[in-house]
Amino acid sequence: MKIDVVLSAGMKAKHDFSGQIVVVIDVLRATSTILTALTNGCLEVIPVQKVADALALAERVGRDQFLLGGERKGIPIPGFDLGNSPLEYTRERVEGKKVILCTTNGTKALNETKGAAEVIIGSFLNITRVASYLKETEKDITLFCSGQDGGLAIEDLLCAGQIIKKLLFITKNATIPELTDAGRVALITYKHLANKNKGPIIAMAQSGHGQYLASIGFNDDLLHCSQVDALPNLAEYKNGSVVLK
Ligand code: MLT
Repeated sequence: MKIDVVLSAGMKAKHDFSGQIVVVIDVLRATSTILTALTNGCLEVIPVQKVADALALAERVGRDQFLLGGERKGIPIPGFDLGNSPLEYTRERVEGKKVILCTTNGTKALNETKGAAEVIIGSFLNITRVASYLKETEKDITLFCSGQDGGLAIEDLLCAGQIIKKLLFITKNATIPELTDAGRVALITYKHLANKNKGPIIAMAQSGHGQYLASIGFNDDLLHCSQVDALPNLAEYKNGSVVLK
């Protein structure tokens, strides 16, 4: 088993996902939001990249059939029903509903996974569940950090690093996974910044996007998204939508 890490959406030209399990990670906040929505009874989340595509899809399938959710610069998109704060995706709001979600980096990454054998939703909220699932595979794994506008987002790298740490631990008596350099960087970053009792919250609060979200009033999202194993569900992106597996 080989484990690679992609540092940001927009770098896919350098990667071939064919035959691999890809775990898409956007801790702040898209994959945390998707997992929260599905855990609260949302039937499916359809990730799209562009606002115009989200609106066109909603028109085509019937505007009353879907909730429209998403953000630009972290702020809810005008005319949409929901933003991208996971705390908005309550059971009262999403149970039995379908969501079209349009975010800057997370839904972009999901749309860049073409060719992968399987695509799994990764976050701190379900991290042990994801690692346990990956442990069973014979396939190569790519941990696809959504990043921030084509660059690195440290909270995504921390999550990738913790998944790797868990995989190395779980599989320690079996075949030792082979790590790429990016995988090693993720592991070292995790060990340095979030291992032991500290968890990811301090590093997340110091991250560029964490500070930005706090500055526009979403500090509680950081607390929610940093909860390790709070929502231990597995979600899969398949045929254009994300559902619980
Ligand atoms: C994204 O997809 O870029 C993020 O989820 C942005 C956000 O924090 O809403």
